[in-house]
Amino acid sequence: MEEISPGLENVYIKYTNLTFIDGNKGIMRYRGYDVNELAEKSSFEEVSYLMLFGNIPSLDELNDFKNKISENLALPQYIHDIIKNAPENADALGIMQTALSALSETYVNYQWNEKNDLKLIPKILGNTLSIVSNIYRIKSKLPIKDPVFDKNYATTFLKACFGMVGEERARAMDSALILYMDHEIPASTTAAIVTASSLSDMYSSLTSAIAALRGPLHGGAAESAYKQFEEIGNPDNVESWFNKNILQDKKRLVGFGHRVYRTYDPRLKSFKKYADKLVETENQKKMLEIAKKLEELGVKAFGSKGIYTNTDFYSGLVFNEIGFPLYMFTTLFGLSRISGILSHIIEYVETQERLIRPRAIYKGPGERKYTQIH
Ligand SMILES: CC(C)(COP(=O)(O)OP(=O)(O)OC[C@H]1O[C@@H](n2cnc3c(N)ncnc32)[C@H](O)[C@@H]1OP(=O)(O)O)[C@@H](O)C(=O)NCCC(=O)NCCS
Repeated sequence: MEEISPGLENVYIKYTNLTFIDGNKGIMRYRGYDVNELAEKSSFEEVSYLMLFGNIPSLDELNDFKNKISENLALPQYIHDIIKNAPENADALGIMQTALSALSETYVNYQWNEKNDLKLIPKILGNTLSIVSNIYRIKSKLPIKDPVFDKNYATTFLKACFGMVGEERARAMDSALILYMDHEIPASTTAAIVTASSLSDMYSSLTSAIAALRGPLHGGAAESAYKQFEEIGNPDNVESWFNKNILQDKKRLVGFGHRVYRTYDPRLKSFKKYADKLVETENQKKMLEIAKKLEELGVKAFGSKGIYTNTDFYSGLVFNEIGFPLYMFTTLFGLSRISGILSHIIEYVETQERLIRPRAIYKGPGERKYTQIH
């Protein structure tokens, strides 16, 4: 008797050498390296190289990789136009999705092989930095501008958005890009793998991933968690808000719980550190205090059920402290994920390629007679 697996829970679709997660112990590693150690000491381009090519690069390899990314920051005019012509209230991630999809138009019959893949990776990383920074610029009523590479990916991105950036914010952005880079195969990465399994091109696969990321059950949690803090409004309201909304009305506490983790999400440690470090304005201090009080109540109420704080509880605070508005949070997540998604689709196509084509169990009517209506 056939059975379906709702949500593909406990279905394994690939082997991977990329990300290891132990949900009970709260451990996460990229190719064997602890994610928090990488977030503290490494850089986005170094970890991207590790994920994409298997090893930490030598200094020469790293510089070469950075040069190639920097050569690909200029976007074609038609992508500028897509970003510029988006309606004023367009969703930031929606614009990113459209721009990536438009770039796929030039990859007719993309041939997956090591040579083509290696050539395309720095181009995609350069292009996406430019797409996301220009989405921010357009929404901030700034003119479209191709970024100029400066030091590293995170600094280049922040300078492209804000014109200037302090060391601490650049370090926090770099860490956030690393922490969000990969998380095995959530809905977005799975969507990309499904598309790549038909041997479609990399941009089309990324477009599928971004489309899946856009849903509130996946990419939008950092934004929702931050909105929750805004709704509470004041540290004095935390307890009454929690009792009414979470305990009494049984609403879900956003930024809590995870399909894989039964303890604290390991990435939380780094995000919490930056949330403390970068806090500056009175409003940011207030939001952070609300978050900490709320976390305490959440852990007290749900910890015994294995429901603990996840990354998105604190990452929005960090994005806000770096200087980004709420509507950019999910797009920043999307930018961070590009190298992880590329690593998974390349791993899938190059080592285990098989068209993904599951089955559905038919439950509809039996044979019916068709009668023409005209
Ligand atoms: C992430 C999430 C979807 C994972 O859920 P899941 O593994 O599918 O777990 P379920 O939805 O089956 O929930 C299992 C139980 O835990 C409870 N639970 C899970 N997350 C909860 C939360 N954030 N607040 C309150 N209760 C929660 C459910 O009510 C359910 O309780 P029950 O068994 O008494 O009915 C879920 O924890 C959630 O909705 N979290 C809030 C949104 C969020 O932070 N998303 C970001 C994820 S990284």
